[in-house]
Amino acid sequence: MTSEPEAARLIANAAQALSDGGLVAFPTETVYGLGADATNGRAVASIYKAKGRPRFNPLIAHVAETEQALALGRFDTRSQKLARAFWPGPLTLVVPASENCPVHDLARAGLPTVALRVPSHPVARALLTEFGGPVVAPSANRSGHVSPTRAGHVADDLGEFVRVILDGGPTQIGVESTVILCLPDEPVRMLRPGGLSRRDIEEVLGERLADKPDEVLAPGMLAQHYAPDARVRLKAEDAEEGEAWLGFGPEAGLGGHGVAHLNLSPSGDLAEAAANLFAYLRELDALSPSAIAVAAIPMTGLGEAINDRLARAALR
Ligand code: TXA
Ligand code: MG
Repeated sequence: MTSEPEAARLIANAAQALSDGGLVAFPTETVYGLGADATNGRAVASIYKAKGRPRFNPLIAHVAETEQALALGRFDTRSQKLARAFWPGPLTLVVPASENCPVHDLARAGLPTVALRVPSHPVARALLTEFGGPVVAPSANRSGHVSPTRAGHVADDLGEFVRVILDGGPTQIGVESTVILCLPDEPVRMLRPGGLSRRDIEEVLGERLADKPDEVLAPGMLAQHYAPDARVRLKAEDAEEGEAWLGFGPEAGLGGHGVAHLNLSPSGDLAEAAANLFAYLRELDALSPSAIAVAAIPMTGLGEAINDRLARAALR
């Protein structure tokens, strides 16, 4: 346990590192983020460098309060409804940037839109409150790697690049935020399934979500992503010789011939499975199996995000 004055000192120190243009890794309720001052072009550039990420990938700007986020973009009634219902929480809204939006062009990849999120994790909120301004933060992993859900994952991937890693323990949700695009005169679209389910969003919106447009508006949707080194075999019945087994639910095979087996959720709870997903993929990958065989996961609720990440991990 960290004492209260000690925690306050760590937060102040991290906020100072951001002001100095440094990178700070911090926990959110979804995954750990690699944060930089959103208004500082050099700091933003160092994120792309650290991640080894293609330049054109736009980043999410995080702020402490919903009101702050509302000032950074142009929200219509639909996006405002979603903001009020789900912030703070695992939702990212992509909206037209406000006229004087301070989020740097580089972080927006030159787009007229801006991606905004108000995370609910107490450590993220403390950092954002102390810093005051928007902090851009992709997931704190090397580009194409599995996202970090523990402080140790960040240290493994990016240790040499970050000034501070704030350790908030394992993240609660375990998959990234749901990314929603809300443009005037267009249906609301889901760009990336994530920690907030389609159903919850549609319920508040009062309409069905449209799919992402065909052109690549969200390069984060680019095929290969979230990939372990090992090949990933989906909807497996059981592990073959030399494979590692990642099961789900009580009926999941036991990984009979496998070199190792883990179960995302023996009780079949999708929230638990999401929280374990990236850590278990990393754990099995570290054993260098011939492949990671993964049991079928239902498509309901958080299952949509889990299956999306697994499908990308399986792409070669
Ligand atoms: O849960 C999360 O969202 C985590 C935590 C740290 O907040 N962050 C995260 O960031 O996953 P990142 O950079 O890995 O993913 C950002 C997603 C990408 O799919 C990106 O293409 C999309 O948001 N995005 C950002 N700005 C956009 C824009 N202006 N238009 C369309 N998509 C955008
Ligand atoms: Mg990512």
